Amino acid sequence: MIVVWQVTERCNLDCPFCSYDRGLARPRRDADPQRIRESGRVLAQYQRETDDTVLVCWLGGEPLLWSPLAELSTEFAVGHGLRVATTTNGTALESTSVRRHLLASYAELTVSVDAPGTAHDALRGAPSLYATLSASVRSLADERRRTGRPLRLRANVVLMRRTIGVFDRLCHELADWGIEEISFNQLGGNDRPEFYPANRLEPASVALLEEHLPRLRDELGQKAGAFARLGQYLRRMAASSRASACPSTIAAPAGPSLFVDIHGRIAPCGFTVGTHGIPVAEIDS
Ligand SMILES: C[S@@+](CC[C@H](N)C(=O)[O-])C[C@H]1O[C@@H](n2cnc3c(N)ncnc32)[C@H](O)[C@@H]1O
Repeated sequence: MIVVWQVTERCNLDCPFCSYDRGLARPRRDADPQRIRESGRVLAQYQRETDDTVLVCWLGGEPLLWSPLAELSTEFAVGHGLRVATTTNGTALESTSVRRHLLASYAELTVSVDAPGTAHDALRGAPSLYATLSASVRSLADERRRTGRPLRLRANVVLMRRTIGVFDRLCHELADWGIEEISFNQLGGNDRPEFYPANRLEPASVALLEEHLPRLRDELGQKAGAFARLGQYLRRMAASSRASACPSTIAAPAGPSLFVDIHGRIAPCGFTVGTHGIPVAEIDS
């Protein structure tokens, strides 16, 4: 059971493709920590009674900016035995104490990286971010080796017109950092409609990606300690690059999943909160 929980709408980076871009005037709300705490007990009970492992993934904004998160994660992981994960821009990973906390409490960490070097910095509005991120992830991988902690290191890449040509090189660099699993998704158009038309994927790029993926997967698999699991989105990516519809069930995760938004409404996914969401506080077993 994967539970994706949105904990904050605040962010510290300026990414022109993202709806949480620091420069945008929009609401910047946080989740209610007490509500999350109460749900932790329900999820732990569910896990005990069903034997279905629960993975709680914190989402933002930038989750690692939200101060109640560290204590909640410790409570979920150490107190309840739930698996905890997050997706982050990685700016907080420079801190030794943040890395120590992640190693102690988290099962998975996904770092968002869009392109090698200064191309990533430009897309995130943060000079030298890529170099800092590389050093932080390498330190984390090293500390993980020394402590034997089971933290899985992942990266997520947003593919767009200007970055798809360097995806191959990026994957190799990420494997050298110590990243074990790489997922990717295509640039979506709902978040920033003004950025999308000039940056969306084109059918020819998706076809090239499909052609090169088997080789890339083999190369990454051969790197010591590197394991690349490349996503199954290609059919959907090809369809939307041609501006035709394709059911999103193709991209659905293998097991059941739930999404909790910033208001504490729970639904099968982020797209169904409006029509099917109910207050998570109503779920007491
Ligand atoms: C919204 S971010 C929030 C977490 C964190 N701040 C980060 O940068 O990873 C979650 C993921 O969505 C991706 N993302 C943001 N805007 C997107 C868009 N328009 N299309 C596709 N993916 C996007 C990000 O790169 C990141 O991997």
